[in-house]
Amino acid sequence: MFDPLSRLATRVLYASSQLPRAAWYGAHLYLIRQLAAQVRQRDVKGSTQRSRSNPTLQRRLDRDMLRLFAQDLANVEAGIYPLPADHDGSLFARLERSLLFFRDLPAIEERRKRNATHEVLTAKTRSRRPDYYLQNFHFQTGGWLTEDSAERYDTQVEVLFKGTANAMRRQALPPLAEAFKGRDQRKLRLIDLGCGTGRFLDFVKQAWPRLPALGLDMSEAYIDHARRHLRRWSRINFVLANAEAIPAPDNSYDAVTSIFMMHELPSKVRWTVIGEAARVLRPGGRLVLVDSLQRGEEPHYDAMLDWFPQRYHEPYYQSYVNEDFVAIGRRSGLVHRGDAKAFVSKIMVFDKI
Ligand SMILES: C[S@@+](CC[C@H](N)C(=O)[O-])C[C@H]1O[C@@H](n2cnc3c(N)ncnc32)[C@H](O)[C@@H]1O
Repeated sequence: MFDPLSRLATRVLYASSQLPRAAWYGAHLYLIRQLAAQVRQRDVKGSTQRSRSNPTLQRRLDRDMLRLFAQDLANVEAGIYPLPADHDGSLFARLERSLLFFRDLPAIEERRKRNATHEVLTAKTRSRRPDYYLQNFHFQTGGWLTEDSAERYDTQVEVLFKGTANAMRRQALPPLAEAFKGRDQRKLRLIDLGCGTGRFLDFVKQAWPRLPALGLDMSEAYIDHARRHLRRWSRINFVLANAEAIPAPDNSYDAVTSIFMMHELPSKVRWTVIGEAARVLRPGGRLVLVDSLQRGEEPHYDAMLDWFPQRYHEPYYQSYVNEDFVAIGRRSGLVHRGDAKAFVSKIMVFDKI
């Protein structure tokens, strides 16, 4: 759909936004590793211990990361969504968020050493949310509950994925585009479960500005952040709710999405949430899930799937990587349309029949 000049301009614009972004977050990761190496040396006096690096794995990760960017750009060139705007804010805002992120690292390390995983589970918080939710996921300060946690979240995720988290989220858009094709976006409805700080909904609105969308999350702080982040858009609302009981009638949505939430749920809850997604979908409606790769899908990454939940306190990750999503879908009346890989994530697509 592009003439050669527009194609070149698109590629230059894409590269000039995504590559510096990857370098920015990659530099954060590099710095953290250097700091960690110094701490290790200090802790183990005279130690010759080095961090284990695996050049073959690193090359694969770099290759898959480039493939993700190539796919993202191909989607833009195919007209599936416009050139993405990540809306990371000014340099000053990014620096402020980086400071917040780096300042929290010692507390995270301390929590990791003590295996302190339930600081946010108190008599006060317990009455309002299920216990599985009230944990310091990723050993992060405040769990999902505080304003600072919401402010730090996107830096944490982008650093972990070297600036590719948004590009992975965008890979949920092609199956939505397929489902929405030829239909009036104003008459469709989408709900994003566990919307967090709203980064995915931003890309939904960039692709379909007039699509009515609802973000659901159990964290007031994350929803407040999402509301602020998405204030440029109309026809977008938020609801504070548990995805195990979506406050919506049966057959009321054309699309349900959930990005990076499935691995945060106990298996039983995962089944309930997907059952709820199926309930609120209209017949013919589509469910798109984006989350980590599962065991065996990329055998070279399997060791990483073992290491990750220990390092980042992900209590339900092991059950996630072994979960049979096709069976869950089937039990809920959803037909599995297929999966796609995107760097270290996968996109799962289901339709309600
Ligand atoms: C890892 S974050 C993912 C956020 C966002 N979707 C993204 O793309 O980064 C998980 C989110 O799910 C929310 N969450 C976890 N369990 C939930 C539940 N049962 N109901 C609603 N939200 C939940 C958390 O509050 C958090 O915002």
